[in-house]
Amino acid sequence: MALAKLVTILLLIVSVSPTLAESNGRGHISVLVSKTGLEFAKDYLINEVISTTIPLKLPDIEKKVKIPLIGKVRMGLSNIQIYAVHVQSSKIETGENGIVLSVSGATADLIMDWSYTYKASFFQISDHGDASVKVNGMDVKVSVNLFNDDGSLKIALLESGCTVKSIGIHINGGASWLYQGVVDAFQKTILSTVENTVSKRIAEKMTKLDSLLQSLPKERKIDDSVAVNLTFTGNPVLGDSSVEAGIDGLFMPNGNDVKVSGSRSSFFGSEVNRMVAISLKEEVFNSATLVYFNAKRMHMAIGESRNGSVLSTSDWKLILPRLYKQYPDDKMMLNMSVTSPPDVKITENGIDTTIHLEISINVQDFGKVLSVARISSVLNVACSAEIAKSNLTGSLRLIDFNATMKSSNIGELQTKYIQAATSTVLESLFLPYVNTRLKRGFPLPIPHGFTIKNAEIVFVKNGVMVCTDIASYSI
Ligand SMILES: *[C@@H]1O[C@H](CO)[C@@H](O)[C@H](O)[C@H]1NC(C)=O
Ligand SMILES: *[C@@H]1O[C@H](CO)[C@@H](O)[C@H](O)[C@H]1NC(C)=O
Ligand SMILES: *[C@@H]1O[C@H](CO)[C@@H](O)[C@H](O)[C@H]1NC(C)=O
Ligand SMILES: *[C@@H]1O[C@H](CO)[C@@H](O)[C@H](O)[C@H]1NC(C)=O
Ligand SMILES: *[C@@H]1O[C@H](CO)[C@@H](O)[C@H](O)[C@H]1NC(C)=O
Repeated sequence: MALAKLVTILLLIVSVSPTLAESNGRGHISVLVSKTGLEFAKDYLINEVISTTIPLKLPDIEKKVKIPLIGKVRMGLSNIQIYAVHVQSSKIETGENGIVLSVSGATADLIMDWSYTYKASFFQISDHGDASVKVNGMDVKVSVNLFNDDGSLKIALLESGCTVKSIGIHINGGASWLYQGVVDAFQKTILSTVENTVSKRIAEKMTKLDSLLQSLPKERKIDDSVAVNLTFTGNPVLGDSSVEAGIDGLFMPNGNDVKVSGSRSSFFGSEVNRMVAISLKEEVFNSATLVYFNAKRMHMAIGESRNGSVLSTSDWKLILPRLYKQYPDDKMMLNMSVTSPPDVKITENGIDTTIHLEISINVQDFGKVLSVARISSVLNVACSAEIAKSNLTGSLRLIDFNATMKSSNIGELQTKYIQAATSTVLESLFLPYVNTRLKRGFPLPIPHGFTIKNAEIVFVKNGVMVCTDIASYSI
């Protein structure tokens, strides 16, 4: 829906600012719309407003006019319609006066029907036809302010106006006096009707945009147990040619509350050379690991290898010879549990985390599941980040690990066997499993109807910044 897109664009617009003073409590995700982003939003808005407004019907006008030599003539204009608007120049400015969008020197084309009647002696004389009107030098200015209203963004319309410099009327058919009659009687009225109707329409659009902004969801469901808090934090900050907004951005259980503390430092030091910069602070990632951990989603039990074949002790003949010896050709089941929420660290070099993993090796012997061994492992992994569609995706790479045997029913094992077993589990089961999930990724706060283009990921201290251009599906 076009308006929904508008809203989202505004959302984007709304969301940015390099000065922190006014934005109390910035979010864990900040969205900065740069100068090029604002330009995109402006062009998008103008196109949307025009395409959803045109044809625009103006009220009929009727007048009694005194025409020399003829007398009183009742003249009327009906079916007045603006059917085309051409915008040559427009600009968007941000600053102390809010967001100001202005269009200057636009032209518009109107069509209308004319008719007249008058009495001559005993006859009633009437005629009708059509006419076209060219509107020249149309200037439109809208200024709005964006503010946070209980976690939603609200638009306050500060000013909206339309002025028209001149109009040119072309009448098809009619008597010779008609042209001058219409010009004298209607020129000013047509001009002011265009001005008023356009201003009114724009104010209406802003009200609609506002109610759409209000209706945006404050959270985004990721799955049955996990959601992301999309509440806006603080007021959007309007910079010089940029808008920055904060979004809470933390992961939370669906329906519940989780508190993750973290610093809320400013992000946007360097120049942004894309339309939008979305910065995700470390806390966002840590809230995700915490929520998934608390939702008991960091357990997995695997009984098959990735190619779908059942895991068997025979596959582990070389890895754990004693296991095979004691339980030859038994079905295996590997349970893996992350034992504490992984702590994510982000530096200029990338994302790293340490995972505490408990591995339980089980076999199915005569229909009974027996726990054979338990290994406790600590692994350091690096996480790469990528963009797929509008999702931030990633993949884990093992840097190093250590492993300790916690219990064993197959006797004391040499370190090299513990290492080999752990390495096999991590490389062929645990990491591929996690990476399958990470590959799907998590949605970036990009409004519905828009997509990411030319995205670039920059790691900074304590956060990830996604700098990207935005495109709309329909363009
Ligand atoms: C969402 O974030 C807002 C702003 O940080 C916070 O006030 C609110 O409690 C959060 N909602 C939930 C359900 O956690
Ligand atoms: C392994 O996981 C399965 C399925 O979740 C569970 O039924 C079983 O009790 C677990 N075994 C151990 C030893 O943790
Ligand atoms: C499946 O993978 C296991 C080890 O991961 C291997 O032993 C087995 O031969 C593979 N099966 C097929 C059908 O590729
Ligand atoms: C494994 O690594 C963790 C963290 O690097 C460390 O705290 C722990 O002592 C190590 N354990 C062994 C057995 O080396
Ligand atoms: C984006 O992430 C969401 C949530 O994880 C997922 O449901 C969706 O399938 C992902 N989209 C793509 C294109 O992978």
